[in-house]
Amino acid sequence: MSTGEDPIKRRDFLESLSSFSKLHRSQKWEGTFGEFLTDVVAKAPAAAARSSHQYIWDMLRWHGHLNEENGDSNKARALFRRELFGIDEPLSRVVDYFKAAAAGSDVGRRLLLLLGPPSGGKSTLAILMKRGLEEYSRTDEGALYGIKGSPLRENPLNLVPASLRAEFRERYGVEIQGELSPWAREYVEREFEGDFARVPVERIFISEASRIGIGTYAPHDPTTADIADLVGSVDLAKVSQIGDEGDPRAWSWSGAVYAASRGMLEMIEILKVKREFLYLLLTMTQEKNVKVSRFPLIHLDETILAHTNLAEFHKFLQEKENEALLDRMVIIKVPYSLSYQDEARIYKKLVVGAPAFRDVHLDPHVLDLASVFAILTRLTKPEREGLDLAKKLRLYSGESVEGIPESEAARLKADSSDEGLTGVSPRFVINAISNAITRGNTHSLTSMELLLALKDSIDSDARMESKHKKLWIDHLVTARKEFYNRWVKEDVHRAMFASFEAEAQQLLEKYLDEVEASLDHRQVTDPITGENRPADERFLRQVEEKIKVSDSGKLSFRQEVVRKAMVAFKAGEKFALVSHARMREAIEQYLFEERRDVLRLVTSTARPDEDARQKISVVQERLIKEYGYDEHSAKEALSYVTTLLAQE
Ligand SMILES: Nc1ncnc2c1ncn2[C@@H]1O[C@H](COP(=O)(O)OP(=O)(O)OP(=O)(O)O)[C@@H](O)[C@H]1O
Ligand SMILES: [Mg+2]
Repeated sequence: MSTGEDPIKRRDFLESLSSFSKLHRSQKWEGTFGEFLTDVVAKAPAAAARSSHQYIWDMLRWHGHLNEENGDSNKARALFRRELFGIDEPLSRVVDYFKAAAAGSDVGRRLLLLLGPPSGGKSTLAILMKRGLEEYSRTDEGALYGIKGSPLRENPLNLVPASLRAEFRERYGVEIQGELSPWAREYVEREFEGDFARVPVERIFISEASRIGIGTYAPHDPTTADIADLVGSVDLAKVSQIGDEGDPRAWSWSGAVYAASRGMLEMIEILKVKREFLYLLLTMTQEKNVKVSRFPLIHLDETILAHTNLAEFHKFLQEKENEALLDRMVIIKVPYSLSYQDEARIYKKLVVGAPAFRDVHLDPHVLDLASVFAILTRLTKPEREGLDLAKKLRLYSGESVEGIPESEAARLKADSSDEGLTGVSPRFVINAISNAITRGNTHSLTSMELLLALKDSIDSDARMESKHKKLWIDHLVTARKEFYNRWVKEDVHRAMFASFEAEAQQLLEKYLDEVEASLDHRQVTDPITGENRPADERFLRQVEEKIKVSDSGKLSFRQEVVRKAMVAFKAGEKFALVSHARMREAIEQYLFEERRDVLRLVTSTARPDEDARQKISVVQERLIKEYGYDEHSAKEALSYVTTLLAQE
């Protein structure tokens, strides 16, 4: 193919496309209200009568149906857990809100408000709900029906007149919750002379793009904001056609509350809207209807999901009149994550998704280190004796801290309920990383470069006070000293000792050979050159000094080792390090210090010898192959650990 495309992949895609549209065709349903009753309602009356809260609760559980976890509430979080990490507690609250509202509790009559710091996942949560609804409405379980042509896609069951509803309940065992809209009332009268059995019904598919079942409202300039954006207005062109301003057909039903009917209305930055808007929305949640000029109350079945940030909320609280409004909201705090592993997952998600990061290698600790820093800025200082921020962070992340019981984490959390509402946002960190990459024009970012990038971002933040800056820079230092140092040292040590057992055994055998030669006053034959030489007393002493065997005690020590080796030999066993604790300690120390010296040598002298270079390159290779480093970061890690060793 001239375009270089893979023809097979393309055909696959065409196939999925056609099966997708086939699926859509087959899912469609259309009929009269009479047919709707027999085809749909009779089979699943409860599903047909669901309110939006019940529908959302079902949707949440549907997304979790494959989830292994126990309990409805746990399962229902599955949708959110795809993309939201480290905020399980607020997610549980959201899920519980829907559970209670679906069961008919009064919370369903209060507006759900997510309150949290900037870039803390509120919009993401709303997006997941919206995508979740779209997906669910395409399944059998999530089939949703509306009066065809109605701008509100209202539940067809609303057609059943009040006088017949008791009978309906007898017959189907469910209660009809809604009322016909003015539009539908006029339509049924005009087109069907009130014969509602003939009214057309269709299956509806929730779609934000088509404004079906999802409405979104974001306040722009409050002075020009018009309530018509929410509830519509008279459509003058239609008035001239129809001739009657009061005719529902002359109303423009384009407001966000109508788009959201049967599903969800997302109110972005809700506290920035005019108070008039807020009253309307709160009444709508409470009474399930809105009042617009010239119509009686319009029944609306929808759920409002509102969000706002803390700054706006505090401003809102300052006005006395607003207090009463708070009673009519269910406020759920959505703080930042406080576990560094979860925070790192967020960065991972953002990094994988961003083109700027494609082809950029991050050393294995970059994201964890950034997360530790971010969380340090979010924590409050622990009061308890023997605890500091770093230890608190480790407890929160499920790591054990010496001398402190694990149960302490829960107690600490309970004591600092506002934790996670301030501090560094994921966006701040991701921006710092991107800046470092673009500016450095590099394909590899190391932990140390990350720390510099973060420091840079703090320094150049014009809005931050200098006291605050100093504090954050202290957190960078803590992250490095208390976390990074440990991680990188562990990597280097493990890479140095990858074949530790074999090397240690070799060394033990060498030691034994030399000891025997020295005890017998024999010569040792060099295995390579074949030359004879006396026992290597210097080597023997180097090993023995590691465990403080004195010059006067060396003879009895050596005899004891040889005796043990002979016993093992007679029993047909190999004399191994495990059988001699002191020898083991001596050899481990010896090996470790030898490597440490090599590390020092290579990085401090301009021309390390071939042997040293060889050893170091083995460690470097292992860091790359087994521990996720690239060449650049492996070199940095090695030289960093060397400087750490020099300070010990
Ligand atoms: N706990 C989290 N888990 C996963 N991703 C998160 C989390 N918190 C934030 N993010 C990511 O950070 C980015 C910003 O989040 P989002 O836009 O949802 O925040 P927000 O609370 O709406 O912020 P704002 O108040 O500024 O509107 C998103 O890409 C989001 O995926
Ligand atoms: Mg947002």
